[in-house]
Amino acid sequence: MNEDRVLVRVEGLKKYFPITRGILIQRQVGAVQAVDGLTFDIYRGETLGLVGESGCGKTTAGRTILLLYRPTAGRVIFDGVDLTVLKGEALRRMRRRMQMIFQDPFASLNPRMTIARIIGEPIRVHKLAANRKEEIERVQELLRLVQLNPRFINRYPHEFSGGQRQRIGIARALASNPEFIVCDEPISALDVSIQAQIVNLLEDLQDQLGLTYLFIAHDLSMVRHICDRVAVMYLGRIVELAPKDELYDHPRCSRRSRCRTRRWNGAVGASFWRATSPARSTRRRAVGSAPAVLWPLSARTRSRSGGTWAGVTGWRAILRIANR
Ligand SMILES: Nc1ncnc2c1ncn2[C@@H]1O[C@H](COP(=O)(O)OP(=O)(O)OP(=O)(O)O)[C@@H](O)[C@H]1O
Ligand SMILES: [Mg+2]
Repeated sequence: MNEDRVLVRVEGLKKYFPITRGILIQRQVGAVQAVDGLTFDIYRGETLGLVGESGCGKTTAGRTILLLYRPTAGRVIFDGVDLTVLKGEALRRMRRRMQMIFQDPFASLNPRMTIARIIGEPIRVHKLAANRKEEIERVQELLRLVQLNPRFINRYPHEFSGGQRQRIGIARALASNPEFIVCDEPISALDVSIQAQIVNLLEDLQDQLGLTYLFIAHDLSMVRHICDRVAVMYLGRIVELAPKDELYDHPRCSRRSRCRTRRWNGAVGASFWRATSPARSTRRRAVGSAPAVLWPLSARTRSRSGGTWAGVTGWRAILRIANR
């Protein structure tokens, strides 16, 4: 593959979250190895799917690639520039070119801000409009782009339906004219009837604006529909990366009895195995929940952490970092 075609290069990316104990003096007693050495390329204009069971580190990977989390190790090279060595203004300039669409459109929109302010925020932060009038015009243009009525501009998030709110989230991501967008399960919180509309919108926007997507998802039929290549993640690592048809028609996992992806649980595991290996008579029942990415803590601490830490970092906190 031609080097020029690579927009994002991820090399040995790791993100460990420290686990500390103590009240006054905090000491580190371990680490959550959420992302543990990812290496892959994302090509210009493609949609790379990132799938895997809950807790395997997809969201952390997406956020670390955008440098919303500082990587523990490894590099993210965006359009030839190593983001991990950038700081301050230089990083902010690169951040304009990369955005994120969040899973929960309601939680990711500030309920006290009007749509004009929410979508206008990246425009102001990155100084993309000369004055207030130009900013409003740009917000209205973005609302039209995501097929919302520009007259909604002074409404608040609670006045919209789930699908409309996700369109606002998409408009917000587009406000800084990005080239690369991490879509973190953008449809999983939506009603089934709305999901296809949002996916079609994302596809139209990609054609229109030449966007590159990292599409994190659980719904494998949707991944097959929208993605060009698919990466399967397990325990913070990529266990398989292939063009979608190859992955679905000839998954390595069905040939390798001990492949980790087989442990996918719930609907994901079931639908994946139904879709990929219909003839398998020895399909193992999916077991377990969040993978044990904690080290070196006890099983008790592990299960406790799986439930609470994932929710520690709120969407809005992340948005604040994105706009710094
Ligand atoms: N800020 C944090 N501090 C500590 N641990 C974290 C933090 N964020 C995530 N983790 C842990 O990292 C692991 C990966 O979490 P992550 O949210 O990336 O998983 P995921 O694959 O996106 O899961 P899901 O499919 O449920 O969204 C989990 O064990 C989680 O508890
Ligand atoms: Mg996630």
